[in-house]
Amino acid sequence: AKQWQGVLREYSQQLGVTEASTVVTLGEGGTPLIESRPLSAMVDGRVFVKFEGLNPTGSFKDRGMTVAVSRAVERGAKAIACASTGNTSAAAAAYAAAAGIQAVVLVPEGRISMGKLAQSVVHGARIVQIRGNFDDCLEISKELAEHYPVHLVNSVNDDRIEGQKTASFEIVDVLGDAPDIHCIPVGNAGNITAYWRGYSEAESSGMATKRPRMLGFQAAGAAPIVRGAVVRDPDTVATAIRIGNPASWQGALDARDQSGGWIGAIEDADILRAQRLLASSTGVFVEPASAISVAGLLERHAAGEIPAGSTIALTVTGHGLKDAQYGLRQDDGTDATPEAADADVAQVAQMLGLA
Ligand code: F0G
Repeated sequence: AKQWQGVLREYSQQLGVTEASTVVTLGEGGTPLIESRPLSAMVDGRVFVKFEGLNPTGSFKDRGMTVAVSRAVERGAKAIACASTGNTSAAAAAYAAAAGIQAVVLVPEGRISMGKLAQSVVHGARIVQIRGNFDDCLEISKELAEHYPVHLVNSVNDDRIEGQKTASFEIVDVLGDAPDIHCIPVGNAGNITAYWRGYSEAESSGMATKRPRMLGFQAAGAAPIVRGAVVRDPDTVATAIRIGNPASWQGALDARDQSGGWIGAIEDADILRAQRLLASSTGVFVEPASAISVAGLLERHAAGEIPAGSTIALTVTGHGLKDAQYGLRQDDGTDATPEAADADVAQVAQMLGLA
């Protein structure tokens, strides 16, 4: 059987890939678009979840990283660098390993999940924890790339946006057209920029007849675009989007304004509730930052902004196992501790109320 070839080969025409191009791939993309009947019922529409946690390193970052690393290698780079809240660094580390080059990753000290840090370690990245936040890390990586022989692979590098736009193509391919509404988390704002580009190209090439309204969501404690001002000390449980000065700020505004969309802020408690709702109702376990797509959809529905009968795509950006401790947390805020029994079937049956 023929397996999925990764986004550079599957979308070679849209990405300008030829036989002569360097392709560093782990088979990213081709992620499932899962219809959620419970969410559909809640908003009186059809809700489809684009599960990006099923990419090779567990997040959507792989789509951009295959392009960025392939082009870096093509230009002779021996090292790549990025700032990250954890997922970009995991992807950079893995694709650098695949390419046989060095990754240098700068992360905010003590503020990335253990799963993501472990990925960078195991793939052999050079990791520096910066005593500061993501925005400080990004400034340093940009300057490193400007003055030293390392190739920047943050989404300020347009190759990342090019790769990430392929998720829109996949959604259009599966649905047969663009959805009416697309919900997406916003951190550094590269992904909403990429999706909007993808949908725009799908429309202009005739793959789709329309473009969706783009609804982007930031965590309330890290919502510079909603507030219209840089947030100096961003804070949220959704560490992946704990960003106060997004690099692609203008791209997010363009997606919102050109699509008649919205960028809103969501409280941490609603993010965590949405994470459990998606996992328990639909079978999809995502990290907190990703669950903001679900929380945001429900908030917009409550505000009367989701017309009945709409087709809605939700991007859930990263796997729940990245940040597994939130999976254990229950509605009352305590961690689940499963009951224990002896190795005795009668006792287990009684405990379960079966006997
Ligand atoms: N969801 C997850 C799981 C992320 O890791 C990120 C960004 C986003 C959403 C937001 O996407 O930045 O394109 O608006 N993570 C970056 C990182 C910042 O370093 O991994 P965005």
